[in-house]
Amino acid sequence: RQHSMHNGHLETPNWVPPTNHTNTDELTTNAGQRVHSNRFSCTAGPRGPVLLEDFQLIEKVAQFNRERQPERVVHARGMTAKGYFELTHDISHLSCADLFTGVGKRTPVATRLSTVIHEKGSPETMRDVRGFATKFYTQEGNWDLVGNNFPIFFIRDGIQFPDLVHALKPNPKSHLQEGWRILDFLSSHPESTHILTWLLDDNGIPADWRSLEGFGVNTYTLVDAQGKETLVKFHWKPEGGAKFLTDDQTDAHTADLPPPHRHSHATAGLYNSIAAGEAAVWTFHIQTIAIEDQDMFDFDPLDDTKIWPEDQFPLQPVGKMVLDENVNNFHSESESIAFAPGIFVAGINGSNDRLLQSRMHAYADAQRYRIGDNYLLLPINQPKCPYHNNHNEGQLNFMIKDEEVNYWPSNVEHTNEHEAVKTTDLSHKIQGVRTRADIPKTNDFQQPGERYRTLIAPDAKRKERFIGHIVSWMTEPKCNEAIRNKWYSHWSNVDADLGKLVEERVKAATK
Ligand code: HEM
Repeated sequence: RQHSMHNGHLETPNWVPPTNHTNTDELTTNAGQRVHSNRFSCTAGPRGPVLLEDFQLIEKVAQFNRERQPERVVHARGMTAKGYFELTHDISHLSCADLFTGVGKRTPVATRLSTVIHEKGSPETMRDVRGFATKFYTQEGNWDLVGNNFPIFFIRDGIQFPDLVHALKPNPKSHLQEGWRILDFLSSHPESTHILTWLLDDNGIPADWRSLEGFGVNTYTLVDAQGKETLVKFHWKPEGGAKFLTDDQTDAHTADLPPPHRHSHATAGLYNSIAAGEAAVWTFHIQTIAIEDQDMFDFDPLDDTKIWPEDQFPLQPVGKMVLDENVNNFHSESESIAFAPGIFVAGINGSNDRLLQSRMHAYADAQRYRIGDNYLLLPINQPKCPYHNNHNEGQLNFMIKDEEVNYWPSNVEHTNEHEAVKTTDLSHKIQGVRTRADIPKTNDFQQPGERYRTLIAPDAKRKERFIGHIVSWMTEPKCNEAIRNKWYSHWSNVDADLGKLVEERVKAATK
């Protein structure tokens, strides 16, 4: 279970998975019996029935039958690449995290880029949010930063997430994604107008993986060596800038690829370029807000439907990420990689962002089901620093711990297991009356209105594309008057002119 780092890269762990290869090239069964015929089942005579005693046949088919583990409930379609994070600006004055101390320090990473809503084999040209998840294998354990390509989210409370995903996923009857269902649900969530000014704008179809922007989305806390806390947002900026496709560019963009790769153009692009030696590079930035300042703004910094405007909270450079290594096995290193927003290292922590708080539990729960209880023992998920505890046994726990004491504390002399030295942790006072209510400062329309007026409306073609996307969902036959009326009102609250235009266009198309 030793892992080492070389030049900031992961080296293959020494643990050898139980495969069906012996040290010769002969085929064997899983238990090592030589397979002298891999083409013919065992039958009663040349034309007789197949014998049930053919363990080799049954094992081979049974193994095949179980090749699929459930795909992720969201973000099923994606790819992972490996590389390193390099610190370019020391921020130890804000965080005592090992990876943020010492300019030039390299930390190995694995990053998975994904679409969100559709299945594992769905086209990568779909209008959809993209996932941007990075596992940092720091010397003090793993840190997972599990973000998206938009800085904001549809909702600000995790209890609404299952309904949101049901509305965005295909209709349970027809298995077709339908705009009216999305609008129906979101009409009760005016805070979603902001992310719709990204999703239905040109940002809705990113051109490829290497030019994808990334955002931590949630508000996190940095903690320095003295325990001082600072609220933080994380940003990834692609070298070469973010690139997008309009609806009518998608076919041309994939046309040069062999037909089976056209629905995988983003994966093919990043995989093939890394294989050809061309790394993908992002710079990493933070925005910060002092804890004592968090109530001073016209938005709530813990509300994930809001950006922290960059003119008010400038991006501070921190490092860069270089992805220059493809996975060797898609199943073991991409399908089985498991990110969780609750996995932190000392110096980085969560915050009272309630969407983040629900996420901190949802992912590990999903992965225990999706991969199995001991999913963190898989090589791609293991920390690359020493780790030890008395968590014990469970299905597919392949660790062979040569020990008699699997409890703590113990008085047996040869165990020197002890609690780790205390590191910084959140230590602020928590108080409040138990309640279930929205946050007090919702301010749902100001930021989408500003985005519409400054970025979308001044460009006539972009404005037309944006309004066209809204109108196409709103004119679906099942988008009834109640849903439409709510959206006329929401879009008018975002911008009076936008609301009027949408209403006119929808009414003209549906009269
Ligand atoms: C998966 C991002 C909100 C539940 C993912 C992944 C990303 C992501 C990037 C894919 C990780 C991978 O590549 O393996 C986000 C962001 C959110 C958000 C940025 C909002 C800020 C939520 C919420 C919940 C949730 C509120 C539930 C309360 C899940 C689950 C998975 C997932 C269950 C699948 C995990 C797995 O099976 O490995 N999310 N998500 N997400 N997300 Fe979220």
